[in-house]
Amino acid sequence: DNKGLKDVYKDYFPIGVAVTPAQLRDPAQQALILRQFNSLTPENAMKMAAIHPQEDRYNWQDADAIVDFAQLHHLRVRGHNLCWHQQVPAWMFYDKAGNLATKEILLSRLKAHIYAVVGRYKGKIYAWDVINEAVADGGDQPLRNSPWYQICGEDYIFKAFQYAHEADPNAVLFYNEYGTESPKKRDRVYQLLKKMIAAGVPVNAIGLQSHWSLTNPADDEIKTSIKLYSSLGLKVQITELDMSVYANEDKADSTGYTPQRESQQTQRYGQMFNIFRANRSVITGVTFWNLSDKHSWLNNFPVRGRKNYPLLFDRNLQPKKAYWSVVNF
Ligand code: XIL
Repeated sequence: DNKGLKDVYKDYFPIGVAVTPAQLRDPAQQALILRQFNSLTPENAMKMAAIHPQEDRYNWQDADAIVDFAQLHHLRVRGHNLCWHQQVPAWMFYDKAGNLATKEILLSRLKAHIYAVVGRYKGKIYAWDVINEAVADGGDQPLRNSPWYQICGEDYIFKAFQYAHEADPNAVLFYNEYGTESPKKRDRVYQLLKKMIAAGVPVNAIGLQSHWSLTNPADDEIKTSIKLYSSLGLKVQITELDMSVYANEDKADSTGYTPQRESQQTQRYGQMFNIFRANRSVITGVTFWNLSDKHSWLNNFPVRGRKNYPLLFDRNLQPKKAYWSVVNF
């Protein structure tokens, strides 16, 4: 039959994939995307450095291509992202004289950026990752010590949501983060969200990036995170799902896709989706970070020259065993 993930999960949640415009132009990839997925996230095209390379110049081409494709084929689009510490254009943190920008200047730039980008796609992008990765993994300071934080303190987080809400009152606004299953970071993110909600900041949902591995995090930690964040009244999405076959810390390991890893991955993907389905009342989307093992950002990262196998489709775009464990339940 012609069923894809999106059809199998029709009564649960949309199933998305991170894409580049070039992938949408490739016939084989386009066919796979349209058969399997009903939501798109631009992998890089909407990041600040890509879409706003100079203060007085926006580069809409790639972002428009993805949004136009989605409109044509009736797919949802998640906007990613409006404010992050990576892939920021060089001009953003400096004034015209080359000194570090003041808080006033930086917030006015952030506002102009968010108004322009969210405004352009109003009604076409249903959800935005407004703030990405603002919480620190370790150390004593809960918020990441990025230039955003150094110049603005926590205000930039609150303000970014306000600007996005003003630019499109109907968009679902996300705080997006990785590593939300480890207790320390989970709690930091929780405290931040709680404070925002108490202050009336228009945050609607949390994005759990979910860059996981064969062994981490434990299933119970995943369940705990979903429960904790939804207890704040937030919806939850799995926004960047993949499953590395290597342990995070083991940079020396490049032994590849052994039969044992294949079967571990198959089983674990099935189990992950059991958890997602059990939480269908709060989970409003599951998005994979990239289409196939060939396209994964985890090839060459964090170890150069190393291949990874974290997704449901192999390098020939064929479904892996893990695919069938997600589909057959
Ligand atoms: C990654 C892209 O996949 C790469 O192509 C790029 O070089 C770096 O960024 N968390 C995020 C995503 O929120 O935007 C990142 O995407 C992966 C980690």
